[in-house]
Amino acid sequence: KVLILDFGSQYTQLIARKVRELSIYCEIFPYNADVDIDSYVAILLSGSPYSVLEEDAPRLKLEIKGRLPLLAICYGAQYLSAHYGGAVLKSETREFGRAYLSYISDDPLFHNIDQGSQVWMSHSDSICDLPDNAMLLASTDRVKNVAYRFKGEETYGIQFHPEVYHSVDGKQLLYNFLVRIAKIRQIWTTENFVGQTLNSLKEKLSGDKVVLGLSGGVDSTVAAVLISRAIGENLNCIFVNNGLLRKGEFEQVIQQYVGMGLHVEGVDASKRFIQSLEGVTDPEEKRKTIGKVFIDVFEEASKKVDAVWLGQGTIYPDVIESISIKGPSATIKSHHNVGGLPDCMNLKVIEPLKSLFKDEVRQVGAELGISQSLIQRHPFPGPGLAIRILGEVTQEAIKTVQEADFIFVNALKKEGLYHDIWQAGAILLPVNSVGVMGDERTYEKCIVLRAVESRDGMTADWVDFPHKFLQKVSNEIINKVKHINRVVYDISSKPPATIEWE
Ligand code: XMP
Repeated sequence: KVLILDFGSQYTQLIARKVRELSIYCEIFPYNADVDIDSYVAILLSGSPYSVLEEDAPRLKLEIKGRLPLLAICYGAQYLSAHYGGAVLKSETREFGRAYLSYISDDPLFHNIDQGSQVWMSHSDSICDLPDNAMLLASTDRVKNVAYRFKGEETYGIQFHPEVYHSVDGKQLLYNFLVRIAKIRQIWTTENFVGQTLNSLKEKLSGDKVVLGLSGGVDSTVAAVLISRAIGENLNCIFVNNGLLRKGEFEQVIQQYVGMGLHVEGVDASKRFIQSLEGVTDPEEKRKTIGKVFIDVFEEASKKVDAVWLGQGTIYPDVIESISIKGPSATIKSHHNVGGLPDCMNLKVIEPLKSLFKDEVRQVGAELGISQSLIQRHPFPGPGLAIRILGEVTQEAIKTVQEADFIFVNALKKEGLYHDIWQAGAILLPVNSVGVMGDERTYEKCIVLRAVESRDGMTADWVDFPHKFLQKVSNEIINKVKHINRVVYDISSKPPATIEWE
């Protein structure tokens, strides 16, 4: 496995993704973590928002140079250079965006990469002088020391970001480093993952009972199927209807689960949830209220099954967020509404997908034979439609959003657009506006349509639908959904907006 030491770069997850795409397993740790270097076969150092010139810039605790093949990216390259006798200074001009390699040496790192290759830069410091025992491997017109290598070692530094899409030969470079130079075999496949995970689950859980909360989403479903393959009847799943699901979703999803051989107890607690939300309008209070009722309902239901383990569909981005070098990222929203469960329930936690990215989870789901309609479903927030109803959550408001969402999502499916986008839904605004229907004046509510493209939900952009499509959806919603006389389309990206409205 490959070790990625993170200096806090926004691109670190991308490095991991690119390495995984090469069928090589890798793990990310903060730059100052206590890791057993000898259990890895190569190391990558990430970029960083810091400058090596700053007093409190992150510094490695471990002596790693020369021990394993090492590729240091951006800040990592500057750090190594500064640390081993080179000079790093503030650049006169900051360099962000495209650049082209004007000189490339014939080192194996640049095998199959030609002069002129486009690379992506993002730095304000430059390596002015290389350490004495380093040799230059590549330059651009503007920056001389773009890539270097320590003589007689497989220790490399590069100023650009091979992990981002705009570095056209970035993947080739990572391949060169990992496969040609570090001689790592490309054996991290979905099939191997499933085999290994089943073995370790069997060993770890032997004879024990596990309880798992299903949400109808991809992660919890794939986790459940994996655990169920390993321990069969000892897995008990609970699917709670919080009354905030999409139209017909509870029945539909339960049906699908039963067809998959999972033992699922459906708990209809919708009244409890809706009652607890009476009078609540603040987004955070809504999330917390829902989280609390969920814990109560789940706890009651799970007591019956005598479990010692709690299964969860946690995936890698959740884990990485909580080990970020700047500490857990600031709470923008109280996500991951089941996060409080383990402590209060006194259960051991089992998270078989903890090392996977979302698209890898989908591949594992396919490998396990889970239907594409479940695997490819859009993500849906734990607090459900409550955070798509601005203001108070009433039965009537839920019905309105459910109907509008149903029309929108069905239209996407009919037009073949559903699978091309990350997520779509309808939001109900708590304002009335004037309209005219027939000959009558109306004073009714407004629906917002939201659809975004994204890779991981961390950043997102609105989908540029054909106007005709939006027109059709708008007409259908206004004609069919009671109390709606206006439909608008949200054209905000994340950041600065978020995907959900609350
Ligand atoms: P935001 O709105 O923060 O959402 O841009 C990013 C992604 O996360 C989903 N989301 C949630 N998922 N519990 C979840 O399981 C939550 O509380 C929650 N809030 C947002 C959101 O739908 C999007 O895919």
